[in-house]
Order: sequence, then structure tokens, then C-alpha cells
Amino acid sequence: MNVYEAAVSRRTIRRFTQKPIPMQVLKKLLNAARLAPSGGNIQPCEYVLVTEKDLLEKVFNTLKWAMYLAPKGAPREGERPTAYVVVLVNTRKKPEGGEVDCAAAIENMILTAWEEGVGACWMASIDRERLREILSIPEHCRICFVVALGYRAEEPVVEDMKGDDVKYWRDENGVLHVPKRRLEDIVFINSYGSRISMWA
Ligand SMILES: Cc1cc2nc3c(=O)[nH]c(=O)nc-3n(C[C@H](O)[C@H](O)[C@H](O)COP(=O)(O)O)c2cc1C
Repeated sequence: MNVYEAAVSRRTIRRFTQKPIPMQVLKKLLNAARLAPSGGNIQPCEYVLVTEKDLLEKVFNTLKWAMYLAPKGAPREGERPTAYVVVLVNTRKKPEGGEVDCAAAIENMILTAWEEGVGACWMASIDRERLREILSIPEHCRICFVVALGYRAEEPVVEDMKGDDVKYWRDENGVLHVPKRRLEDIVFINSYGSRISMWA
């Protein structure tokens, strides 16, 4: 799988097999995150990897899944993530911002995961206070995102977006459909509004 293939085939995964991810694979994902672009090369991101069974359950309970599928969006028992990476900004290294650095690191991580057969859900809806307590995260580290990880147990599909309806949905077979805006609706050439007709 080349980088483009990973970028276009990757989908958010919310159903996982329970096969553990080997530590070597997790290390590879975190190394890809470590080497991501960073503004001013400050590299403010730090990571807490969670793999321990009791903690997995506690972290799961701090997360809100798939808002458009609520209350049925969360992974069911037996399909939950087998690892999490909590992505932090160390405010001693970067007092303000840092979310963009986290985003670059996370994209590196989830594309590398995809190539390994590991699915990911990038998460921002987090009970940060509870998570801080559970993982003993110090006050000088801001909890930005959580990445839920596990071997994939679903194959979501992309759809051309109809109008402005951004909501993903599950069909009667449980397949997740994810609408994406069409290229010709979001890319212009040389002046805003000027469309590239050959792409239509
Ligand atoms: C910044 C960010 C925050 C997100 N937060 C959540 C979240 O809290 N819970 C969740 O289930 N999915 C979350 N997602 C996943 C999005 O729902 C998902 O990326 C979107 O539906 C598009 O699907 P795709 O990743 O398969 O292209 C988040 C994604 C991003 C980039």
C-alpha cells in the first residue's frame, strides 16, 4: 500500500477485533507520530499509550462516539478498541496552541496504522477531567485528542455527498457510509469559484 492508497482508503473505524496489537506495531505508529511536521519544530506533543485491560475500559467510558449515530454509535462489547493513544501538548514546551502539531502527528499515526491493518478513531469528545485522573496526567499537559486503535472489524464506504448533508449512517447490514464532498465542489483554479471542468 502506498501513501496515496492509504490516504484515500482509510476510514474511521469503530468496530474492532479483540486481537491485541503487538507492541512493535504500536511503537511504529508512535514513531511515525514523533517524526511528523511541527510548527517551529517545537514538537510539543507527548503521548500516553494505554493497553492494560482495566484501563481500556476506564478510558472507553470517557469517550463519546459517532454523534450522528447516537445513542447507538459506540462500539459494542467485544468490538471495543484494544489500545488508545492519548495525545497531549506539553504547555512547558508550547504554552498556547499545539493542536495542529497533534493533528499532523495523528494523521501520520493513523495512516501507518491503516497500512498495518489497524483501524483508528480520532476522538475529540472526551471527558478530559476524568481521563486526566485515570492516567495521572499532570496539569502542565493539555489533553488534546485520543486515538482509539484496534484491528479492523468493519469496512466503511465513502459516498458522494448529497447537498450539504455531512451525516454518516449505517445501512440495514450495519455498513457505515461516509459522505464526502466532491472534488469539483471544493477545488477552484486560479480564482475562487472557477471550476476545473475536466474533473466534473
Ligand atoms: C478532530 C476530530 C475529532 C473527532 N472526534 C470524534 C469523536 O469524538 N468521536 C467519534 O466517534 N469520531 C470522531 N472523529 C471521527 C470523525 O467522525 C470522522 O473522521 C468523520 O466522520 C469522517 O470519517 P472518515 O474518518 O472515515 O473519513 C473525529 C475526527 C476528527 C478529525
